[in-house]
Amino acid sequence: MQLEIKILTKMFGKGMVGLSDFSIIIEKGVLGLLGPNGAGKSTLMKIIATISKPTYGSVLLDGEDIVKNPDLIRKILGYLPQDFGVYPNLNAYEFLKYIAAMKGVGGAGLNKRIDMLLEGVNLIADAKRPIGTYSGGMKQRIGIAQALLNDPKILIFDEPTVGLDPEERVRFRQLISEMAGDAIVILSSHIVSDIETVADEVAIIKSGMLIEKNTAPEMISKVENKIFEIALSQSEVERFKSQYLVVNTTRQSDKMLLRYISGTHQPAANSRPVNATLEDAYLFLTKTQPYIR
Ligand SMILES: Nc1ncnc2c1ncn2[C@@H]1O[C@H](COP(=O)(O)OP(=O)(O)O)[C@@H](O)[C@H]1O
Ligand SMILES: [Mg+2]
Repeated sequence: MQLEIKILTKMFGKGMVGLSDFSIIIEKGVLGLLGPNGAGKSTLMKIIATISKPTYGSVLLDGEDIVKNPDLIRKILGYLPQDFGVYPNLNAYEFLKYIAAMKGVGGAGLNKRIDMLLEGVNLIADAKRPIGTYSGGMKQRIGIAQALLNDPKILIFDEPTVGLDPEERVRFRQLISEMAGDAIVILSSHIVSDIETVADEVAIIKSGMLIEKNTAPEMISKVENKIFEIALSQSEVERFKSQYLVVNTTRQSDKMLLRYISGTHQPAANSRPVNATLEDAYLFLTKTQPYIR
């Protein structure tokens, strides 16, 4: 299975651009869509989920255009929108049965599947209370469960880890790894650590354009040997920041410890090389790289 997104553009009124000539090929596995707020992640996901139509461009599922023929993807799609709404008076069982009916999922296995999903998102104990009484993280988890109801071949999760505590994040990653199988899974986040451990590939998007699509190790290799730490006094920090791309600053007794990317420059004197992370690569790529057109 393959999704080919071809020169997709989405313009909103008043010259607002959601996506700009965006092209990418997505194959089975987990793709992490990483980008700052306003980058166009939700716009892209809505178009793939056929909730929104592009201004121009096409989305081909195994060569067939789903913009023209949305039914091709709808029956194999699981989608968690960023602004997922719930029915406050239904409990988890009732809600999932309702969604199942909407998606045309039924049959003898349905109750078992619902139990398995509720187990997977750790909601069994709360499954009989109204969703209106759930915390933000619990609502997010029921949203994850509903996206998985129809055993989807294409899964789109828009900022799924928002509101989840660290333990819930770990469970979510496990669930995704279990569910991924042969599916195409697309996850978005503006937080690197949410994507890093679960994604086979990462696509960095900014201002409606693709900056880079690659595996995390490949991305990290682009900044390998370019990441340093330096201890400076408070008064030296501002000048240093005007010369180097500083990715983190921490206080260390009377000094400031700066983590920075040397880029094409020589590192400053008295710096110490440190291992590069995906966070470093993300900041480097979003702050310095030209777009892929
Ligand atoms: N319905 C809309 N009307 C006008 N502008 C929009 C609308 N939806 C998104 N945008 C704009 O499109 C850009 C991309 O938004 P979005 O896809 O939501 O970004 P992300 O999900 O990466 O935070 C932003 O500049 C946003 O303001
Ligand atoms: Mg969004």
